[in-house]
Amino acid sequence: MLNEKIQKALNDQINAEMYASYLYLSMATYFESKNLSGFARWMAAQAGEENGHAMRIYKFVTERGGRVTLQKIDAPPSDWASPLAVFEDAYAHERKVTGMIDKLVEMAAAEKDHATSVMLQWFINEQVEEESTADDIVQKLKMVGESANGLFMLDHALGKRGQ
Ligand code: FEO
Repeated sequence: MLNEKIQKALNDQINAEMYASYLYLSMATYFESKNLSGFARWMAAQAGEENGHAMRIYKFVTERGGRVTLQKIDAPPSDWASPLAVFEDAYAHERKVTGMIDKLVEMAAAEKDHATSVMLQWFINEQVEEESTADDIVQKLKMVGESANGLFMLDHALGKRGQ
């Protein structure tokens, strides 16, 4: 059984993951509008992953006899100054999510909720990967700079995700 405090925190995290899904989908639409279909595909795949993160917690709360309460999802931004600005935002967002997961881990430990602690281990590893991937693309976009050729090549490479 989940205690109320942990249940509320996990419900908040479901909302944060759903927001992340919404944010990445909005980023996908930005790239679609710029005819960068590879970037758009990558972002749409990421939106799907974030939905999966929310569902992972949803399943856990339900299995523990808790109650999932869905909350309002804020509207994400819809425009960015450049592809680099998009990925800088994505990286910043992942760092924020990592901070939220770290706080959840601390709360689960304080409440001696070992099952929640174990469930959260998966998210700790996932955040290492997600931060690293977003930062890698930020660095590549910085390398590409104003080069249309470089952007085209990166679009092609990112478009392979999930194929
Ligand atoms: Fe679900 Fe990208 O953190």
